[in-house]
This record gives sequence, structure tokens and C-alpha cells, in this order.
Amino acid sequence: MLEVIMGSKQMSNKEVSARLAGDVSLGGQVSVHRLGFGAMRLTGDGIWGPPKDRKRALAVLRRAVELGVNFIDTADSYGPYVSEELIAEALFPYPKDLVIATKGGWNRPGPDQWTHDASPAHLRKAIEGSLKRLRLDRIDVYQLHAPDPAVSFDVSVETLAQLRNEGKIRLVALSNVTEEHIERARRIVPIVSVQNRYSFADREWDYVVSYCQHNGIVFIPWYPLAAGTVAGEVLTRMAKAHGASPTQIALAWLLQRSPLMLPIPGTSSIEHLEQNIAAASLRLTEEEYEELASVPEQMGLQGNNVAECETLVMSGGTQNSQ
Ligand SMILES: NC(=O)c1ccc[n+]([C@@H]2O[C@H](COP(=O)([O-])OP(=O)(O)OC[C@H]3O[C@@H](n4cnc5c(N)ncnc54)[C@H](OP(=O)(O)O)[C@@H]3O)[C@@H](O)[C@H]2O)c1
Repeated sequence: MLEVIMGSKQMSNKEVSARLAGDVSLGGQVSVHRLGFGAMRLTGDGIWGPPKDRKRALAVLRRAVELGVNFIDTADSYGPYVSEELIAEALFPYPKDLVIATKGGWNRPGPDQWTHDASPAHLRKAIEGSLKRLRLDRIDVYQLHAPDPAVSFDVSVETLAQLRNEGKIRLVALSNVTEEHIERARRIVPIVSVQNRYSFADREWDYVVSYCQHNGIVFIPWYPLAAGTVAGEVLTRMAKAHGASPTQIALAWLLQRSPLMLPIPGTSSIEHLEQNIAAASLRLTEEEYEELASVPEQMGLQGNNVAECETLVMSGGTQNSQ
């Protein structure tokens, strides 16, 4: 039995490191450990404003790096700006191997408001802002946050390709897209990763995961823990058998789903962070993997059952983008 449940109060001797999840290559250019950190929930409530406890947010980021995390996901819209600012405050000057993946094309005019703008003018301005806040000369991975229904998808991607040629971006990536979007984008510029909502219980984008694996594109599942609410009899039974937590089992399933899967569980708690990273060394048996894989079908669940508000944006983007 693996003793992998741990928080700062009960660390065992077992090594806890994102490294144990193995590595994944982004576009054949940068290699990162296959368990990253999502920095969205370090901000204030509703992903708005500064965190209640700034010191703790900074400590979580520093601890993530100590635990071997070398891929951090963020976006200009988280806060807005707060998540990027916290990353720079906590970690600049950055460790040599740290890859920060930020996003643009989705704005926050006010609390609980998210609006699209993936126009060339906005993306150019957004990238300048991210470069400044992150204190970088070039962004390693820049993700189009979501297709903008009011802007040609190709034009948004062409803008990112131009910014890459200008040296502002190293690698271009997408988020909240269909296979068709990815194929269209790849005709314009190499796409190194795709970030869509996904977990063992939430499989709307299964076919995109498979497409990515087949085409050497890293898949980054957001909402991998259904915001910490993943639960259920099967998960609990497996967690008990492994001496693990249900969230760790959910992460282990993702890591086994595809060698190009790069989960980015987010947390504002050091204890949860340590627990999540400890899942890097957890392996499910084939039977366990298959049993979890069949949960949505057995429950008659549709892919978007556990999704929050962002589903709306995704379907808006995928149905209406040009
Ligand atoms: N591309 C997109 O459109 C998009 C959309 C959403 C998110 N994202 C990215 O994906 C990342 C992850 O997504 P997410 O934050 O929505 O989902 P998530 O990782 O499934 O959930 C994070 C939430 O789960 C809780 N949690 C984390 N670890 C836990 C643990 N071990 N035990 C219990 N609760 C735990 C956290 O609360 P505590 O703080 O209390 O631990 C946090 O509120 C984000 O940080 C962001 O970078 C991208």
C-alpha cells in the first residue's frame, strides 16, 4: 500500500516530487515534469482581486517549485493580473527550468464577468502586459484562452504566430477548443498544447485528448479535481486501498490516461499542494484504471455534468468561432 496522503503536518519519508510523474516535451523544445500547478485559485474569491492571505499564496508557489513543479499555468484574466503578479513576486528570478504558460483573449471587466477579446490589437496588448507582469522578455508558452466568437479564429492564431516570429512568444498553445480548431491552428503555427476541461468523470473532450496524443500535442486538463469535489464510492474505495485520497486517485487516473497528459491541479493550500504532488508516484492497476474510466458511462453522465460557468464560454467559442 502506498502511503501517499500527506500534508505539511504528516510528511512521510517517501519522496514527493512532480518529477516522479515523468516528463513531457512541449513542441520538442522544452521538457517539463508531467504534474504542474494551476495558479488561478491563488487570487481572491471568484478569481477576482488579491488573495485574502498574500503570504500564503506566495508560499504555495514557492513550495510548488520546491516539490519539483516546473510548469505553472496562469492567465492575465486571473485576478485579473493578480495571478501573474504573484508568480513573479514569489519566484523571480525564475529557476532555469521553470516554464510559465499564460493565456490571453478572455477579459475580466468586473467580478463574475468574463468577456472575449481575441482581436489582434487586444492580443498584442495582452502579451505586452503579461511580459511586464511576469518580468520576462519572452513568454515560454502562450495560450489563446478561448476562441472569440466575434473574431476569426484564424486571425487570432495568425496574431500569435506573428508574435512568435517577433520573439515575444516561444511556443503557441490553445485552450477550450475542438479538434477542428486545433487542425486549423496547426496550418498556421505549431501548437504545443491544448487545455480543455477534463477529468475521469468529465469526458466531453476525450476525443481531443486522443487527437492530441496521436499528434504529439500535450493535453492540459483544467478542472481536474472538479474544484476538489471529485468523490464517489469507486474513488473512495480505491483511495482506501492505496492509502491515498480521492483527489490523488483522480490525478493518478489522468496521468495514466495519456503519456502527454499534464495535469495542473490548483490550490491555495500547501497541504493540498503536497497531497496533489504526491500523486505523481501513485499507479493504478489496469482494472482500477478501467473501472474509473467507465464511471461516467455507468452513471449515465454527460461530459459537462461537473462543469462550471466556463462551459458556456467553451460552447460559445466552439460553436461560433470562425
Ligand atoms: N483554460 C481554462 O479555461 C481554464 C479554466 C479553469 C481553470 N484553468 C486552469 O486549470 C487550473 C486547475 O483548474 P481548477 O482550479 O478549476 O480546478 P481543480 O484543480 O480541479 O480545483 C481546484 C480547487 O480544488 C481544491 N483542491 C485542490 N487540491 C485539493 C485537494 N488535494 N483536496 C481538496 N481540495 C483540493 C482547491 O481548493 P483549496 O484552495 O482549498 O485547496 C481549489 O479550489 C487552474 O488553476 C487554472 O490554471 C483553466
